[in-house]
Amino acid sequence: MDFVDLGKTGEKLPALGMGTWKLDRRRGAEALKAGLSLGSRFIDTAEMYGTEDLVGEAIRGEEGVFVATKVSPHNLRHDDVLKACSRSLKLLGVKAIDLYQVHWPNPSIPISETMSAMEELVAEGKVRYIGVSNFSAGELKAAQEALKREEIVSNQVEYSVTARDPENNGLADYCRSSKVTIIAYSPFGSGGLYSRKRVFDGLEKIGARHGKTGSQVALNWLLSKGNVSAIPKANSVEHIRENLGSVGWKLDRKDIEAIDSFLGRSPLVGGLNSFILKRSSGLWSRHLTNKYLKEKGVVIGKGKGIEKDL
Ligand SMILES: NC(=O)c1ccc[n+]([C@@H]2O[C@H](COP(=O)([O-])OP(=O)(O)OC[C@H]3O[C@@H](n4cnc5c(N)ncnc54)[C@H](OP(=O)(O)O)[C@@H]3O)[C@@H](O)[C@H]2O)c1
Repeated sequence: MDFVDLGKTGEKLPALGMGTWKLDRRRGAEALKAGLSLGSRFIDTAEMYGTEDLVGEAIRGEEGVFVATKVSPHNLRHDDVLKACSRSLKLLGVKAIDLYQVHWPNPSIPISETMSAMEELVAEGKVRYIGVSNFSAGELKAAQEALKREEIVSNQVEYSVTARDPENNGLADYCRSSKVTIIAYSPFGSGGLYSRKRVFDGLEKIGARHGKTGSQVALNWLLSKGNVSAIPKANSVEHIRENLGSVGWKLDRKDIEAIDSFLGRSPLVGGLNSFILKRSSGLWSRHLTNKYLKEKGVVIGKGKGIEKDL
């Protein structure tokens, strides 16, 4: 496994993690366990995904797994953050969450209130590091300024060969200069990369020169940025194994430049979409969190529905 610096902590984060949004409860959970045994030791989840229990099951008895989860934007009031964290700790079956991320900014809740709860969780030993997700450079700066003792170590954003917002809007540069690790989500455009024939053929062609596949090239290109860890999601062991083949080697400078010049689309959550999603994040996140957890039948304890707590 390759590693990247985790913020300014001095800790190394695996350059490749495993995403769990829409993870299949049977096949996906098996793939997650297989991934752990193949050396993939970083898992990303969120209270909204309804997969924290699957992650908990996969890591039971394992050591040295870096677990990242997220608090939903409707839970960013001080006491709600503390409650959400308790639920996540139970579902994950861990004493401390390695990286606790604010899933989306919620402009109707002061970031200082959220961050004071996050710092309390660190002080109590329930969270090791604080991260954010879907934050612009300005939102990230405000979050950093709201912290009194801790630092934001990471910002999880959509970033891929076909989604270049972090490069185009200055976020990647800001994160690099302020030593905030970028965790690249949807590195395959949630699967959309495979229907972009011209782009994917280009990746395959470059991969052929290295004995690698187009998917491996797409991930390696992200990791070549230096301050980036990528978290593809896969429901199959074959995909997990293939994705792990994206580390331990390097694209040539000319390959990187060729991919840099591919035309990226606007990410799904970029621009106006992002603005609207952030303005309404408290509303849709409550709805989705309840819906996903209910659908997946996620429960804590003896049949006590977690949705009762939300
Ligand atoms: N913070 C946020 O707001 C946010 C938003 C979105 C995602 N995320 C995180 O990022 C993770 C990844 O993003 P994502 O789930 O949107 O999608 P993604 O990782 O970009 O793409 C997943 C799709 O790619 C397929 N795939 C995976 N490996 C492959 C391979 N080697 N060859 C061919 N196909 C392959 C998967 O198929 P199979 O499943 O069939 O294997 C699935 O259809 C999420 O799971 C989540 O943890 C975070």
